[in-house]
Amino acid sequence: MTHPSADEPREKLLVNLTPELRRDLRIRAAEHGLNMQDAAASALSIWHDTPTAEEVPTRGAKSWGVFLPAGGPDRFTRECEARGLTKVQGMAQAITQWLAAHPSPDQRLVSQPVKRILVGNQKGGVGKTFVASGIAQAMAEMGLNVLLVDYDAQGHLTRRLQIAGLPEGSDSLLTHMLGEADKHLARSLVALPHERFGGRLHVLPASKDAFLMDTRLALLQVGRDTALTRALAPLEGSYDVIILDGPPNLGLAIDLAIGYVQRRPGELIDHSGILMPVWSDRSSFDAYEMLNEQIHAHSKMTGAVVDQLGFVVNAYDSRKGVVTRSFYDGWNQLTTPGVLATLKDAIEGREASDYQVPLLEHAPESQQAEVMRALAKELAA
Ligand SMILES: Nc1ncnc2c1ncn2[C@@H]1O[C@H](COP(=O)(O)OP(=O)(O)O)[C@@H](O)[C@H]1O
Ligand SMILES: [Mg+2]
Repeated sequence: MTHPSADEPREKLLVNLTPELRRDLRIRAAEHGLNMQDAAASALSIWHDTPTAEEVPTRGAKSWGVFLPAGGPDRFTRECEARGLTKVQGMAQAITQWLAAHPSPDQRLVSQPVKRILVGNQKGGVGKTFVASGIAQAMAEMGLNVLLVDYDAQGHLTRRLQIAGLPEGSDSLLTHMLGEADKHLARSLVALPHERFGGRLHVLPASKDAFLMDTRLALLQVGRDTALTRALAPLEGSYDVIILDGPPNLGLAIDLAIGYVQRRPGELIDHSGILMPVWSDRSSFDAYEMLNEQIHAHSKMTGAVVDQLGFVVNAYDSRKGVVTRSFYDGWNQLTTPGVLATLKDAIEGREASDYQVPLLEHAPESQQAEVMRALAKELAA
């Protein structure tokens, strides 16, 4: 979790921040091997020591939350009052100063394991497949080698990309997880043909046997908990990012996926983890609570550290998904860094699924495509 560690009391400061500054802070913090919380705390201490600062643009600032060492939020609030600044301006100045003091290092300090992202939420129809596919496309467009795994037996992802599901009786992710496969898993992959992806976007299609995953795995006597990790391990060396499009339930399969994206030794905070598409409505909050509980239970039982990368507020259903300010703020209270992106309900998204064309190919200039690119850039940091 990206919550404060138990041994150090922290308090949450809620303050608006522009998406640009948030993204820059996250990327730069990662480049310096820091998490965003510590970078923000360091930014504020620089700011407190610098009596005057230039005004920074804050248009478009959105609700954002950060955990600071105890007393930090109060101290910051008082100092803003003393300087006659809004908190939005104070935080923007602090982060701008920190970014200037911490340029991008020439080289990454540590070489990182393959980035693993589970796009998860047990609610159906919230946009998991849409987001998983969109960020995978955007990352491939950026030049990364991406493996997109259809980890939902329903095979929506596979169909929407106009890929044939794996034939019955052939090797599949499940046969590999069960140790019953004959050929290398790479033989089951399909590369998307579109030029913009440069042959870098590969899909592991769904197969019908995935409906049996939980029952078949339940019977496995040995190695069940690591079945997914073992199955994907032979592919990891060929990719920068592996993205799992999660199923709409909280069964065993999702537990294995949570285990797969857990932080590995030497891996930076928020390098891998769970990305959660949600709606801005009450039932999404309830759903998140359950997912959060499962993540915690998993961590407690296994000792794994699982990073929650943030929410993507998806306003797909215009009746239910109206992005109200209060829900939006609510998501920011639940985890940090809270909301990473907001997707509007737009015709392009629906057309892309109906026509079975990748969104970035169908509507490369659309606002949705741009949101996917910005999100991909942030996650790829
Ligand atoms: N922001 C959006 N704009 C337009 N259509 C969307 C948007 N988000 C999702 N959709 C469409 O809504 C349907 C459900 O989304 P999907 O990604 O399949 O949800 P999930 O994987 O969580 O079940 C799909 O047809 C998808 O293309
Ligand atoms: Mg789906």
